[in-house]
Amino acid sequence: MPGNAVLKVDNLHTVFNTPAGVVQAVNGVSFTLEEGRTLGIVGESGCGKSVMAHSLLRLVDPPGLISRGQVRLNGYNLLALSNEQLRRVRGAEMAMVFQDPMTSLNPVLTVGKQVSETILSHLNLSGLEARDKTLALLAKVGLPNPGKMYNRFPFQLSGGQRQRVLIAIALALQPKVLIADEPTTALDVTVQAQILGELNRLKSEFHTAIVLITHDLGVVAGMADEVAVMYAGAIVEQAPAVEIFENPGHPYTCALLHSIPRLGGANKLKPVPGQPPNLLELPGHCAFAPRCPGADKRCRREKPVLQPVCSGHLVACHHPAVLPASGAVL
Ligand SMILES: Nc1ncnc2c1ncn2[C@@H]1O[C@H](COP(=O)(O)OP(=O)(O)OP(=O)(O)O)[C@@H](O)[C@H]1O
Ligand code: SF4
Ligand SMILES: [Mg+2]
Repeated sequence: MPGNAVLKVDNLHTVFNTPAGVVQAVNGVSFTLEEGRTLGIVGESGCGKSVMAHSLLRLVDPPGLISRGQVRLNGYNLLALSNEQLRRVRGAEMAMVFQDPMTSLNPVLTVGKQVSETILSHLNLSGLEARDKTLALLAKVGLPNPGKMYNRFPFQLSGGQRQRVLIAIALALQPKVLIADEPTTALDVTVQAQILGELNRLKSEFHTAIVLITHDLGVVAGMADEVAVMYAGAIVEQAPAVEIFENPGHPYTCALLHSIPRLGGANKLKPVPGQPPNLLELPGHCAFAPRCPGADKRCRREKPVLQPVCSGHLVACHHPAVLPASGAVL
């Protein structure tokens, strides 16, 4: 039974106006996320994952510009809100854990102050209660000696520790939607497992919907209900996680999956042979064609649109490789 759709992204476009021309970083991304579900987003470096994530919260700085589209959170369009309305939505309703935690921490405030001030600005607690809650959260995300950590400044922490502070803030606010951009990349395996466990707890206890961007296919397999594969600023395939791994339909997804090393334990995405397209001059046809073994004349003439190949499985390709294995029908 379909759940309640909390986040609806429709035809989102984000560009950067640079001296060299217009960089088309996000190119018509659409998806719907239901409460309590996790959408994993994968794709090689530079394909637009972080710009898309920032666009969802209107956090793209000039020369970046959201040029088209809608982002609807519980029905209202975030792109149409005033700055004051948006400020209230950020954190409490939709929170983000960034790839680079330094950009979202205040360098002149101690860690404890910024977690407790965030708590105080969104929850009705006394200063002492906020302090206790902060200490408990710092412990929960695996920071050693929370009492000491409370009085440290961000620059006195490692990258991984800063990442955990951001996650502590997100846990405190229990947002409806959490956008997590490589939340565990800088962390060792044990802490990574703890953090992923906390994200799952947010999801099961508070029905938080999560957009999880990661290079780690092991994390995707363990966390995501659905997976979207991005290429050149667009989603080229989207399906339930199991379906993506067992029955990939887009040649780019197939190449990404084949690039997983069988031995050695690493689950990181590896480069696919060939170069991604220049985002300053995207072609009017399939952007993957120069790297695609199956490209034909039609692929070099017509742009494929993202459409269902079987139930719940969307592919943007003129010649999708999906087998009717799931038994699903359109
Ligand atoms: N300020 C900017 N000015 C111009 N181009 C930009 C700017 N910020 C990002 N871009 C471009 O937007 C594209 C998408 O970048 P983005 O950071 O979203 O990639 P990503 O998929 O998150 O990569 P990674 O996996 O390395 O984090 C890149 O080609 C990048 O060069
Ligand atoms: S549309 Fe053609 S070139 Fe593009 S991914 Fe599909 S088969 Fe390859
Ligand atoms: Mg990124």
